[in-house]
Amino acid sequence: MRVAFVGKGGAGKSSIAGTFARLLARRGERVLAIDSDPMPGLAFSLGVDRSDAGIPDVAIEECVIDGRNTFRLRSGLSAEEAVLRYADVGPDGVLLLQLGKARGVRGENAGSHQAFQHVVEGVPDHGWSIVGDLPAGTRQPFFGWGRFARTVVVVVEPTPASLLSGRRLARLAGMPSAPRLVAVASKTRGLGDAELVRDGTGLPVIGTVPFDTSVSDGDREGAALLDQTPKAPAVAAIDELVSTLINEEEQP
Ligand SMILES: Nc1ncnc2c1ncn2[C@@H]1O[C@H](COP(=O)(O)OP(=O)(O)OP(=O)(O)O)[C@@H](O)[C@H]1O
Ligand SMILES: [Mg+2]
Repeated sequence: MRVAFVGKGGAGKSSIAGTFARLLARRGERVLAIDSDPMPGLAFSLGVDRSDAGIPDVAIEECVIDGRNTFRLRSGLSAEEAVLRYADVGPDGVLLLQLGKARGVRGENAGSHQAFQHVVEGVPDHGWSIVGDLPAGTRQPFFGWGRFARTVVVVVEPTPASLLSGRRLARLAGMPSAPRLVAVASKTRGLGDAELVRDGTGLPVIGTVPFDTSVSDGDREGAALLDQTPKAPAVAAIDELVSTLINEEEQP
């Protein structure tokens, strides 16, 4: 499975992605969780001690591609080896690779960011699932860090601002190079909220995560939802989302 969570700031992307990655791993998948947000959040929802390190300089070399100076993984180092060497091992065996915090005013860690992209796109399909937590914004799912994804899940709250963001992303989904785009209704408080998200974005809603104070309580404590409140309604909803996406991938 290759899934990326996108959407408006604060919609619930990191909360869902972290729990989703662990629940997927519990079903026997080898999961690489990637945080491509320079303002990281996935480590907390996974329950991994933050390192924020990104790909280190020793793993990167400068090169010229199409006449342009750029960076790639050092020759001889495969994407899979880079993951095994530099990702943090989290609960349930989930591996976490982070983009790394921004250094300097601009460009100082361009090499590390390029290498991160090469790793994410170079991890073999067979034997690996990738769960991505993408930064808020509209270009990312299609042109940037989200290129690895086969399914892009737009996390949408039933609020006018969040619906508007979802609608913008849905419009981009019409482009030929775009991956499959679906929505999850987040922080729902009633049965009508999923319909609101469907009608407001025009996207199929494949899951619903209820408003659940266990999520924000876990955030306050700095604890993963799955460790702090394993029986929370939000956990059950995210587990259902895992089942849905697994079943969809099995369709021809
Ligand atoms: N289902 C939920 N019920 C209640 N609160 C939630 C739920 N999901 C997320 N939250 C709260 O909403 C806030 C934002 O959540 P989260 O960090 O997961 O969103 P995000 O989309 O990753 O945000 P950002 O764009 O800043 O990365 C947090 O305070 C979190 O506790
Ligand atoms: Mg986040």
